[in-house]
Parts: sequence; C-alpha cells; structure tokens
Amino acid sequence: MPESHSVRSMFGRIAGRYDVANRVLSGGTDIYWRWRLTGLVRSQQPDSVADLATGSGDVAFALRRRLGTGVRISGYDFCPPMLEEARVKGARGAMYKDIPFAEGDCLALPIDDQSVAAVTISFGLRNLENRHLGLQEMRRILKPGGCLYCLEFSQPYALLRPFYYLYLKYVLPLFARLLTGDKAAYDYLAGSIESFPPGRFKRRNAFCRIQ
Ligand SMILES: C[S@@+](CC[C@H](N)C(=O)[O-])C[C@H]1O[C@@H](n2cnc3c(N)ncnc32)[C@H](O)[C@@H]1O
Repeated sequence: MPESHSVRSMFGRIAGRYDVANRVLSGGTDIYWRWRLTGLVRSQQPDSVADLATGSGDVAFALRRRLGTGVRISGYDFCPPMLEEARVKGARGAMYKDIPFAEGDCLALPIDDQSVAAVTISFGLRNLENRHLGLQEMRRILKPGGCLYCLEFSQPYALLRPFYYLYLKYVLPLFARLLTGDKAAYDYLAGSIESFPPGRFKRRNAFCRIQ
C-alpha cells in the first residue's frame, strides 16, 4: 500500500491541475461517476455527510447540489494544496459557502464517534497507507445505521482489460504529463489500480454501500 507522505506530496504537486486532468483523462465521465455516487447517498436521506479524501471538493459540491441546503456536509483531506483548491471553488458558489474543508487524515480523523449519518470516499480508499485502519475510522465516526459510500476504480471485464491497461499505463501518463507536468503521479495511478482488490463488482467502477 502507498506511503502517506509520498501520496500527500504527489497530490500537492498536481493540485492546481487536478480538476482539468480529471475531466480530460476521464473524458468527463468522472462527473457522471460522482453523480451516481451522490444519487445513492440521496436515497438514504442522511442529515450529515463527511466526504473523506475530498481533494478539490467535487463530491462535496455534488452532494450539496443533490441533497440540498438542509444537510450538513463537510470535506476532509490531508493535503493542504488540494484543500485550498476546494476552498477557492467553494467560495465561488453561494450554495457551497457553508461546506467546511478541514485538514484530516483518514487514518486518524478529527471527527467525533458516531457523529455522521453517511461517509463518502471517492478515489481515496485505494490511496490509504492502511486501508483497514481507514475503514475502522469510517466505522467509528458513523452513527448506528449510517452508511459508507465508496467510489473507486476496479478491474474491467477480462476482454476489456488489455485495452484498459494499455490506456492506463501508456496513453494516460503521456497526456497527464502534458496536462500536469507530472507523469510520475499518473504512473502511480495505473499501479495502484492494478494492485487494488477488485471485490465482487461487475462494473468497471465500483459503487458500494456498506451499512
Ligand atoms: C484521487 S484524489 C480524489 C479526490 C476527490 N475525492 C475526487 O473524487 O476527485 C485522492 C485524494 O485523497 C487524499 N488522501 C490520500 N490519502 C489520504 C489520507 N490518509 N487522509 C486524507 N486524505 C487522503 C489525497 O490528498 C487526494 O486529495
């Protein structure tokens, strides 16, 4: 599993170009994936959501749009430059102004026990140095009956796999270097997806709800 300090410094280097790279490299599909995730959260009608590994805040903003203003939403990340991107974006939209973005490591969250009705984590679980500890933390902060919603890359169908890895290992890092100037960060992406347990999901992107 990746070391926290190298993950933090990698996201710190690409923070300013993270959103552009996401849009271009996913062909805009990342917006749809977050829309699907937040739709699942809406079906639970939680009164509070903590978005972990929030990065530049796109899940937190999507949650606000889908859940409305009555729900308490907060974002946590351990990389200050990514949080700064989230805060700048949040200040641009009136409906996002009440979303606090705070520094918080998923392995030791600054959140009280049993205090949130839902936890979201999008493209974050794969990056944790200790996933078991991270999942324990998520369980600790969830209220009884609360849910964890995780959006993460997974393995595609066997037939698609060669094309998928061809794109991830060779095409994507080249485009990423042009967009962010940091090919290494996107070399890491392919390796981390390949070594992430696929679970029992049949879809390319796994949405899961754990109660
Ligand atoms: C790929 S980005 C995902 C950002 C956002 N959730 C999204 O969907 O675009 C991964 C984020 O996880 C954060 N991260 C990785 N490990 C973390 C940890 N242990 N605690 C908090 N944040 C972490 C990184 O700083 C980075 O912002």
